[in-house]
Amino acid sequence: MKKKFYLTTPIYYVNARPHIGHAYTTIACDSIARHQRMMGFDTFFLTGTDEHGQKIQRAAEAAGKTPQQFTNEVSGEFRALWRRMGITYDDYIRTTSDRHKGAVQELWRRIRENGYIYKGNYIGQYCVFDELYVDVVGPGAACPECGRPTETVKEENYFFKLSQFSEPLLNLYTAQPDFIRPESRRNEVIGFVRSGLRDLSISRSTFSWGIPVPDDPRHVIYVWLDALANYITALGYGSHDDANYQKFWPADLHMIGKEIVRFHCVYWPAFLMAARLPLPKSIVAHGWLLFEESKMSKSRGNIVRAETILDVLGNDALRYFLLREVVFGQDGSFSFDALVQRYNADLANGLGNMASRTLAMITRYFRGEVPYPSHAAAHTPADAAITKLAEKIIIDYQQLFEKYQFSRALESAWSLLAAVDKYIVETEPWSLGESQDEQSRARLATILYTSAEALRIVTALVHAVVPEATAKIWGQLGLGDIAKFSLSELSWGQLRLGTKLGKVEAVFPRADKSAIQRMQQLEETERHVSEAVAANAAEPSEAARQSALSQASPKASAPPQRQTSDSTSAQTKGRITIDDFAKVELRVAEIKVAERVKGTDKLLRLEVDLGSEVRQIVAGIAEAYAPETLVGRKVVIVANLEPRKLRGLESNGMIVAASIEGGKPVLAAFLEEVPLGARLK
Ligand code: MSP
Repeated sequence: MKKKFYLTTPIYYVNARPHIGHAYTTIACDSIARHQRMMGFDTFFLTGTDEHGQKIQRAAEAAGKTPQQFTNEVSGEFRALWRRMGITYDDYIRTTSDRHKGAVQELWRRIRENGYIYKGNYIGQYCVFDELYVDVVGPGAACPECGRPTETVKEENYFFKLSQFSEPLLNLYTAQPDFIRPESRRNEVIGFVRSGLRDLSISRSTFSWGIPVPDDPRHVIYVWLDALANYITALGYGSHDDANYQKFWPADLHMIGKEIVRFHCVYWPAFLMAARLPLPKSIVAHGWLLFEESKMSKSRGNIVRAETILDVLGNDALRYFLLREVVFGQDGSFSFDALVQRYNADLANGLGNMASRTLAMITRYFRGEVPYPSHAAAHTPADAAITKLAEKIIIDYQQLFEKYQFSRALESAWSLLAAVDKYIVETEPWSLGESQDEQSRARLATILYTSAEALRIVTALVHAVVPEATAKIWGQLGLGDIAKFSLSELSWGQLRLGTKLGKVEAVFPRADKSAIQRMQQLEETERHVSEAVAANAAEPSEAARQSALSQASPKASAPPQRQTSDSTSAQTKGRITIDDFAKVELRVAEIKVAERVKGTDKLLRLEVDLGSEVRQIVAGIAEAYAPETLVGRKVVIVANLEPRKLRGLESNGMIVAASIEGGKPVLAAFLEEVPLGARLK
């Protein structure tokens, strides 16, 4: 029987659209899933979306949609992106699906029947952004994880007896040293558990967007218990068809980002132990993808969308770059310059050039059939060195890959390409090409066979990471469907004499400087347009950040404080305080100059008079307003926004507009006369 391999990504929150931070985890998992399939494992790869909780409820409110409508849309965007990227997931779980809800309730019942759930009252701080109970004191205190203001939760909750699991968890980490990787994260978790675990609030009763607690529907289940359970509910746990659960659980790998280690390495195994279910085999936490020096996230406004890279350089470029450039486990920076540089150096000049050069020579000198060296005299130590190196790299690559050291694995594969490149330069096959004597033909055959065989080996090894181009090269080598190739049997010499090559075509066209500009423009336009359009609708995670509320217990080990009262806080409605609003400086300004920004259809450069000063603002309104109609018009601007560069122009403020169908902006205006610079409050 085939060995099984079950791996998962985190299920992504649908409060914001996908970006390359999400794509990073998904690409890593997709590469592992493809690799494991090629290694002969019966592989199950799960991804999906996390759709309940207060953060999502507020994001939906801010967008003026029902939570279900909103989550349907954003979940659909994630799924559409994964499809476009050719992600080979086997199932896509949504926490709002019926199959998930019923199974989560089943898990709750089991934990309750085993005696680990009780009712109490909680008062403490909660971070809605992290959906986390935090150990800080006082309304508005900053979340120790993300720095955003926390909200006070004061309500009747169900509690989970997490405090009883310190010993069993510590025993688990000792017995299974690979349970948490890398080592640094493991130490962090051990330190946290050693410092003492307190019981955890696992229900909420002051909002409704969640799965009802069995037998007490006034409560919804804590969103992290709901979300973590996806890893078993997707397999059919708790339903009448649990064949996949029987076959694939426990998971071989939960891949996550480092910020959600505690939920996966402490809460999740404790919930499973309480339900007496088997535990996952390993949890691997990677670092953060940084852009402009901080973690890429929508609320920081520093995201890069995967679509931009797909449009300009393609899927393989994004996958290769992320896995090659970032040392897995550590934080890594994303930049368009580095992306294009790697693309050109490693893909266009490296793999792409090596393939077209080798295959073109076989076509030219051997009528497109793989030649084979006919006698030993045609071999030299240089050929033998390539063979030896390839054999070593087959082993190294697979070992590194299986330890999820993608960057080192790819580096080793590319070192074989570099060695072959040097070998070709030194052996000069083209100088033998026109000669018909037997000795030269045999020598030429050896060189080209050696090069093609090394190319085949690299292609097979890196297919899981660079699937599209390698499938083409495999076809050009005349080998058919690469996905069917059994990677565990890869060895030197499998390329057969006389194999008829397919049509030889370049796989990675070189990218010039304009590729960088095109990607930057796509992102700038997108950002500016969404700013202009969002002027009238609170940005979801901002809304979540600004408002006030919460629930019970420890990620940062908050002591659940009991209270007799179960009163509902008035701060639970996604509102902001007057002080929050006062931070936004809205002022009246008059447009003095309006002109189109060259090279874009969307942007206008405006000069606006605030009475005391004239400012430049770049606004994404060119599709709705002709510049000449704007001069002399009074508008409302956000005057204290951080300046930002768009198309090389500094934009110093933002024009406020309503967003109507299709995202069309309509400028806010006044019916009465208003002086320039007047503040809106
Ligand atoms: N919904 C929870 C996870 C529940 S799992 C049972 C959540 N969602 S999330 O949308 O915030 O996604 C977090 C995950 O997305 C990270 O753990 C990581 O895998 C990935 N990333 C999102 N932004 C990222 C970066 N900037 N860098 C690296 N990974 C990133 O947390």
